[in-house]
Amino acid sequence: SQNIYILGIESSCDDTAAAVLHNGKILSNIVATQEVHKQYGGVVPELASRAHQQNIVPVIHQAIARANIGKKDISAIAFTRGPGLMGSLLVGTSFAKSLSLGLGIPLIEVNHMQAHILAHFIEEEHFKKPTFPFLALTISGGHTQIVKVSNYFEMEVIGETTDDAVGEAFDKSAKILGLPYPGGPLIDKYSKEGNPKAFPFPNPKVPDLNFSFSGFKTSVLYFIQKQTKENPDFVAENLKDICASIQFSIVRILMDKLKKAVKQTGINQIAIAGGVSANSEIRNALMEAEKKYSWNCFIPKFEYTTDNAAMIAIAGHYKYLEKDFSDYSITAQPRYKF
Ligand code: KG4
Ligand code: ZN
Repeated sequence: SQNIYILGIESSCDDTAAAVLHNGKILSNIVATQEVHKQYGGVVPELASRAHQQNIVPVIHQAIARANIGKKDISAIAFTRGPGLMGSLLVGTSFAKSLSLGLGIPLIEVNHMQAHILAHFIEEEHFKKPTFPFLALTISGGHTQIVKVSNYFEMEVIGETTDDAVGEAFDKSAKILGLPYPGGPLIDKYSKEGNPKAFPFPNPKVPDLNFSFSGFKTSVLYFIQKQTKENPDFVAENLKDICASIQFSIVRILMDKLKKAVKQTGINQIAIAGGVSANSEIRNALMEAEKKYSWNCFIPKFEYTTDNAAMIAIAGHYKYLEKDFSDYSITAQPRYKF
């Protein structure tokens, strides 16, 4: 049997990450999260590229060392071509090309959004993998998509956001409440002790399987402004209930569209992916749907939900099997679609 070692490199946004997979199993998975953006309340692209430049070699070095292999053992280099921030992608793309040339091994480009979905195929004990076809709900700070997945690289976006991503809805709502960036995990945390029905937020009417979150954010803003005018301590006094209500409303929007997608496609296998899939309420809602509608749901391990390089490496692994290699003239693609 073949021994395939893939080095994955991820640098699309504000995490510099590298991972080594052996036949689809993780040997190492290193993520350097950039703390510099916290004080700005969001990712500053210029600072992100600089931090990638600083971190990329140490992170890759650490990934190879932890995997306990030599550079000469690596079969191929997989890297994120896009979508993402141009300056960030350039660092990973250029480095991946150079390393591939230097080691004389194949170069494999990976679409970040496909990789989020393919994270479900990392070899893990006690984790069942989805079978084709399935629906993927990809929810992150940059994207909100429902994808029909017919095979590893045969994917079709059947619904997506027309404006903000769901992660932005979480983060911007959190900002309105005065919480630091990224606010999604904090809303999740405070929601655990709040009443989700305390303050109803509207479910925006969006056609087909598409989403819109900019109106949602505005409704949160107006609501808070109005309440604060009457009671300046409104947020402080009701933080948990406000968070729980926001989270409940966002998850309801996602679940309503998923139900519609299941009805339309006849596919009831659902996998969630992306940073927001760490959210406890969406996880609960899916587990309930398994019972209520006999869906078959796939929820990833926490370390594969947010940006990481193991997902890039597993996508690279399946491309390696197909000998789907990239040319050295390949460029970063900030708006990479599939
Ligand atoms: O996939 P990701 O790490 O980066 C992007 O590609 O965007 O996703 C980051 C997003 C942020 O908006 C963050 O607030 C959100 O995922 N997030 C959460 C939770 N954990 C991360 N949102 C809600 N609840 C969570 N537990
Ligand atoms: Zn991502």
